[in-house]
Amino acid sequence: MSDRKKVTLPMLFDKMAKGIPLTMITCYDYPMATLVEQAGIDIVLVGDSLGMTMLGYDSTLPVTMADMIRHAAAVRRGTPNSWLIGDMPYMSYQPSDELAVLNAGRFMAEAACDGIKLEGGQEMCGRVRAIIAAGIPVMGHLGLTPQSVSSLGGFRLQGKSARQAKKIVDDAQALEEAGAMAILLELVPDQVCQIITERAKIPIISLGSGPHAHGQLLIFHDMFGLYPRFTPKMAKKYGDAGKVIGDGLKKYVEEVTTGIFPEPERYFGIKEEELSELRRLLEQER
Ligand code: KIV
Repeated sequence: MSDRKKVTLPMLFDKMAKGIPLTMITCYDYPMATLVEQAGIDIVLVGDSLGMTMLGYDSTLPVTMADMIRHAAAVRRGTPNSWLIGDMPYMSYQPSDELAVLNAGRFMAEAACDGIKLEGGQEMCGRVRAIIAAGIPVMGHLGLTPQSVSSLGGFRLQGKSARQAKKIVDDAQALEEAGAMAILLELVPDQVCQIITERAKIPIISLGSGPHAHGQLLIFHDMFGLYPRFTPKMAKKYGDAGKVIGDGLKKYVEEVTTGIFPEPERYFGIKEEELSELRRLLEQER
């Protein structure tokens, strides 16, 4: 049990107003969530990146609402006090306002989330308004939006030209006007992120978009060497849990194969008289 206070929206805005950087991380399961809780992270995103990091898909597109709810509920059990965001998976909100509200509501009712995140700018403002009208806080997501990776031409920096950057600035303004509680900027140039942050009255969070945002986000598996396929340049490795676990597994194989494991202190016996009785009972049955 931690003695942390539950993070609330006013607390996030208060930190922003005081210039205290917000901390945000992705998380997908109960044991990691307990560590996130102990570290005192402000905002936890159960991202649809779990399709790649936890389920081994090549993209986030196959992830379903059922996947998201299962993981979000587990994370909530591990971190009762972080501000928990459920990430709306592909096609859970794009088709209609009604579907968007129903699925956003599932994150709140079934996983005890504090809000949801969805990808897109001006074209998604109707959805954002509809979800907010249902009493659910919404974080926007601009720049590299992985659900549109095909139209964006790959996992690459967004907003490199003035025209593209202007579109991202306009999208951020539109999301704020639609009532978004915060905006995540993924992989946009530092100066574009700074311009958006200076104009915004809601928290702007950077993922690979430089130091000028109100807060920073990293993907858990990138931070700890747990995603075997690649580590993006924007990710900083804070430890190599992948190596620790890999080395441990090799040692386990070696110890079982050579008979070192299990050692006598790791298993149990029964009393000699019970063992004799057991043998007698078995003998009788012959
Ligand atoms: O799914 C996710 O983890 C995300 C981040 C890449 C921002 O949306």
